[in-house]
Amino acid sequence: MVKWIENKIPYSDCSKSLDLMDVDTIRKIQIFHRSFPQYSVTPLATLDALAMELDVGGIYVKDESLRFGLNSFKALGCTFAIAAYIAKTLGKSVWELDYETLPETARKLGEFTFFAATDGNHGRAVAWAARELGQKAVIFMNKGCPQVRLEHILKEGAEASISDLNYDDTIRYVNELAQTTPNSVIVQDTAWEGYEDIPGWIMQGYAVMALEACEQLQELEVKPTHMLIQAGVGAFAGSAQGLVSNLYGEDSPVSFVVEPKAADCYYRSVLRGDGGPVIVDGDMRTIMAGLACGEPSLLSWDILKNKSRFFTAIDDCHAARGMRVLGAPMRADPRVISGESGASAMGFLLELLTSEDLMELRDKAGINKDSRILLFSTEGDTDPDNYRDIVWNGKYPC
Ligand SMILES: Cc1ncc(COP(=O)(O)O)c(C=O)c1O
Repeated sequence: MVKWIENKIPYSDCSKSLDLMDVDTIRKIQIFHRSFPQYSVTPLATLDALAMELDVGGIYVKDESLRFGLNSFKALGCTFAIAAYIAKTLGKSVWELDYETLPETARKLGEFTFFAATDGNHGRAVAWAARELGQKAVIFMNKGCPQVRLEHILKEGAEASISDLNYDDTIRYVNELAQTTPNSVIVQDTAWEGYEDIPGWIMQGYAVMALEACEQLQELEVKPTHMLIQAGVGAFAGSAQGLVSNLYGEDSPVSFVVEPKAADCYYRSVLRGDGGPVIVDGDMRTIMAGLACGEPSLLSWDILKNKSRFFTAIDDCHAARGMRVLGAPMRADPRVISGESGASAMGFLLELLTSEDLMELRDKAGINKDSRILLFSTEGDTDPDNYRDIVWNGKYPC
């Protein structure tokens, strides 16, 4: 059964964090991304037949499997963060940099190493960006990550290995390593005290995804009424929430944050109720590998606790069903290949729209036949063997 809670945390001033997702700034970052030959706007899949079946006005899925040819949205963040870091270190404006000028500018740093901790997608993106810049990347994966994801990172020319630590401990380990290695920096999407620049830039880069989606909806003359955003450390969710809140203001869609039950640090932080974050420890076993993070990013928490209305936690079987439904669309609906974390929001949506147990949540959230629901499939089949086992063989049934 899905867990959910309505956010009643007293409002606090989050304007500084929200300003990061200022719409004009994100438009400028979109211009930066456009300078990459691998960049293109990813599709917004309009699932009309599914919406009709589930009795809502529209379901729109942003398909990030096609982003930069890397099968997930992650490179949106680290490309801009690395550019912004290089610009700041060399005393330049980041707006002077683009795909053409970045490698030559990066060389002025000398031989440089970018470190990152990852479940796979972020590390692949950092490795790819470092290679594009002619620099070195050292990537550590948390325990239990599939070999195929390690291979993708190694293929980008990075030094990479799987550790025996959980995700949050891997970050701590890599951070110490980066601090003691000359000419290096950790590129991480989660903010902690004293480490806010790079996670802020990563979130700004991610916000381009939500901006693209809103522009695609505008072209369809659709204003979303509801938005579903999955969270690991919350950088993606905070970026989407921030951008959408800035773009639509008072008229913003009602948003739901979606986590796996095994790593429900945002859900528990809302349950705590006083605005302080809650940390989930241990192994956090879930097929939603990208969401298996137990420590909220403080920057994202600042936005989400003030702007997101419902916080939810799902089981693995829900994500698996999301993958199957996206992979086997109804009638003329487009197919979306979506991995375990990518399909988590669809998994939750299916429960939200069909489960007897969630009637109260539907009512509170104002879900009805006119609802226009935006969600993000943040990855493709990043673990192809598991994808087939789930989609073909029905692994993790509900
Ligand atoms: C596919 C996918 N979706 C969502 C997320 C969640 O992003 P965040 O950690 O910023 O919450 C991740 C993180 O790795 C991911 O890989």
